[in-house]
Amino acid sequence: MPRTLADAPIMVLNGPNLNLLGQRQPEIYGSDTLADIEALCVKTAAAYGATVDFRQSNHEGELVDWIQEARLNHAGVVINPAAYSHTSVAILDALNTCDGLPVVEVHISNIHQREQFRHHSYVSLRADGVIAGCGVQGYAFAVERVATLAGAARAEA
Ligand code: DQA
Repeated sequence: MPRTLADAPIMVLNGPNLNLLGQRQPEIYGSDTLADIEALCVKTAAAYGATVDFRQSNHEGELVDWIQEARLNHAGVVINPAAYSHTSVAILDALNTCDGLPVVEVHISNIHQREQFRHHSYVSLRADGVIAGCGVQGYAFAVERVATLAGAARAEA
């Protein structure tokens, strides 16, 4: 059964190598760190009366476990699957168990302007929306979209 933002956080999942943001290919991914992105997500969610559960793993199975957790305990999922976007049937299958749960996929870079192998994402087959090429601001857009899909009324400022 879908949860509401009042009683469940938005799961924000980050895949492999995103722990190195700020140091990793800054010409592609910018200078913000993953901690900066977490702060952005927390702030963005707060405007919707929502909270985030922000996680990163370099391991496919751990991401699968966390998606299964979100299936039961979270109001929606924002996911940057990183390289697993292009390879992981297991992550797609896990997301496909989350009936009715809002899912938005985010990529910092514009994957469609990059190497051919980045143009396809398995996760996109399940995502309700896909954001790419908006830099780290894409995470704010993704949190807003999941909050909207989860039926939030924007909290009065
Ligand atoms: C990425 C794009 C992927 O192709 C790449 O493997 C990443 C990051 C992005 O945020 O732009 O690790 O998902």
